[in-house]
Amino acid sequence: MASSYGYPFEQQHCLSISQFSRPDIETLLTLGNHYLDLDVQKSKERSMLAGKTLVNLFFENSTRTEKSFEIAGRRLGADVINMSVVGSSVKKGETLLDTAATLNAMNPDILVVRHGASGAPALLAQKVSGSVINAGDGVHEHPTQALLDALTLRRHFGEDLGGLRIAICGDIKHSRVARSDIQLLNVLGCDIRLIGPPTLIPADADKWGVDVFHDMETGLEGCDVVMMLRLQMERMSGAFVPSKREYFHFYGLDRSKLGFAKQGAMVMHPGPMNRGVEISSDVADDPKVSLITSQVESGVAMRMGILHALSDARDGVA
Ligand code: NCD
Repeated sequence: MASSYGYPFEQQHCLSISQFSRPDIETLLTLGNHYLDLDVQKSKERSMLAGKTLVNLFFENSTRTEKSFEIAGRRLGADVINMSVVGSSVKKGETLLDTAATLNAMNPDILVVRHGASGAPALLAQKVSGSVINAGDGVHEHPTQALLDALTLRRHFGEDLGGLRIAICGDIKHSRVARSDIQLLNVLGCDIRLIGPPTLIPADADKWGVDVFHDMETGLEGCDVVMMLRLQMERMSGAFVPSKREYFHFYGLDRSKLGFAKQGAMVMHPGPMNRGVEISSDVADDPKVSLITSQVESGVAMRMGILHALSDARDGVA
């Protein structure tokens, strides 16, 4: 694909879905799709990021996101450095901004940041000279997850997602994935429902352009997609659910609850999954209904697309 997309992508960072216009989003998804096509072909060697350095700076644990950025960066020819917080000066009391200054002196071209505090990547973006990608900040946003979710949906349902009814279920309150997905899927014209216990749905959620439900049977009616979320125990300050067993009984997705959705409905989950808590294994592992593996595949391609777009914007190519 040529470096020009017919639309000038000028974003220097990827911090939130709200920063992107519809054409920005279309450009990113087109690039993601381009790399999805290339990824299934044999030759994976490319040099678009040759000579550039990508630093993965993860203050919170990650499997999928960190690895997929690493693979995406390497496939595009970048030098990738994973800065694990364990063993770094951060544990010795260095502040985020000190870390940023140190990293900046090493001149990374791209900094992929995951942090427990909402807004941390945006703060870093003001202090470093390279592009910053938000790989999840507190309960705020996880824009690259939303983009890969949209790419996964397009792979399955086709390019026009307008009118697709999507239920996002479970721990909305602590989910940065939900916040980014809701914004992006709204831009793409989806009909979004949130389903969960009142304790796990923020009070102002009805202002997010969604319909809120508290029971799976009514909420899932007519849904094309059921997106399950992990109970984020590590972000809970008290008891938000009576017990995991009871939670599964009311909100866990199993075959019988999936039956409330539209015939042929597909299931998504950003991972990591708590099997038997928010989703049963027979649903999660059934390729006829589950898009979960497809989400992981799309993750690498989508991140290649994001790296491509940001790099072109920096170089003034787009
Ligand atoms: C999500 C995250 O970290 O926000 N995971 C991910 O990036 N694949 C969701 C979660 O942790 O539950």
